[in-house]
Amino acid sequence: ISGELVDGFARRISYLRVSVTDRCDFRCIYCMSDKMIFLPKKDLLTLDELQRLCDIFIAKGVRKIRLTGGEPLVRPNVMSLIRALGGRVSSGRLEELTLTTNGSQLGRFASELAECGIRRINVSLDTLDPEKFRQITRRGDLAKVLAGIELALKAQIEVKVNVVALKGLNEFELPEIMRWAHGLGMAMTVIETMPMGDVEEDRTDRYLPLTIVRRRLEELFTLNDNQRRTGGPARYVSVAETGGTLGFITPMTHNFCESCNRVRVTCNGTLYSCLGQDDAVDLRTILRQTMDDAIVARRIDEGVRRKPRGHNFIISADNRRPAVARHMSVTGG
Ligand code: GTP
Ligand code: 5AD
Ligand code: SF4
Repeated sequence: ISGELVDGFARRISYLRVSVTDRCDFRCIYCMSDKMIFLPKKDLLTLDELQRLCDIFIAKGVRKIRLTGGEPLVRPNVMSLIRALGGRVSSGRLEELTLTTNGSQLGRFASELAECGIRRINVSLDTLDPEKFRQITRRGDLAKVLAGIELALKAQIEVKVNVVALKGLNEFELPEIMRWAHGLGMAMTVIETMPMGDVEEDRTDRYLPLTIVRRRLEELFTLNDNQRRTGGPARYVSVAETGGTLGFITPMTHNFCESCNRVRVTCNGTLYSCLGQDDAVDLRTILRQTMDDAIVARRIDEGVRRKPRGHNFIISADNRRPAVARHMSVTGG
């Protein structure tokens, strides 16, 4: 296997996001429908197949892997994959292995994650109000998530809190969530809701541009631009009053496609070269047809070459249909 992954716009792909399952124990209103239909189990890659795929991407120059979902920690035996990929970090083949999680299973897994070499995780948490938490996640238990976060911090894992800005739900709570996160030494990132998949809520009514969020926060805090980069899409500022870090992910108001460095693989082995497009390449068939990794790598090259310039997201009052038909949980954000 040779050659790095470079797309048609000369962007180098060094970051792979792997959705290990599209299932989740929550049903967040902006992410899923209450009556979600998940991918058929028979189409799932086994953990060994996912591992092989990750290794091929590593051979093609991927330096950072983030496991996502659905909720990655609800996939049975996922720790065996995490342990194996953690080994790629300790052997220096991979720079970073991370996880984006809803936190519900952290109580169970925090110390094992640390032991596997996970140094940093992102936890999605949109409110600190137990009732609202239930309303947004439909099934989540806030206390359990908070306890999980505490254990992760105790295990020396750096935690970043992801907050999707939701009009009429958490918009006025953002300063409080930030003070709480920074008080515990966690960075916080606010995210604009993206129009992916049909959900019962109308995203047009929930969408809150981060230009507004930032302006409101600037009335309360001093935000200083910060050079911190994680290889992800967030732009960071330091908050003088709390000493903490605040990130903004703004696919809608200020897209960051020009500097995109990532592609996604789903749990059924589909390669999506862009979160905000439906164009995809099937890797599962070829993965099962041949044990020759070079052939799979060529298929990956082909998918990456087709990566579009940017996403098609729009949220507008006259078009309330999601821009992308598949749900966020399929590609893991
Ligand atoms: P780090 O910077 O490594 O902490 O990760 P991250 O912020 O990229 O990862 P995370 O999984 O926490 O994602 C946060 C949000 O960014 C999610 O809502 C993702 O959907 C969104 N996101 C990540 N990458 C992209 C991207 O390429 N395009 C768009 N539009 N959104 C993205
Ligand atoms: N728009 C923006 N962010 C979303 N997430 C899930 N669905 C959406 C959406 N439609 C977030 C989750 C998690 C991250 C992986 O993506 O809250 O933090
Ligand atoms: Fe890259 Fe697509 Fe994300 Fe834009 S939306 S930053 S092109 S993956």
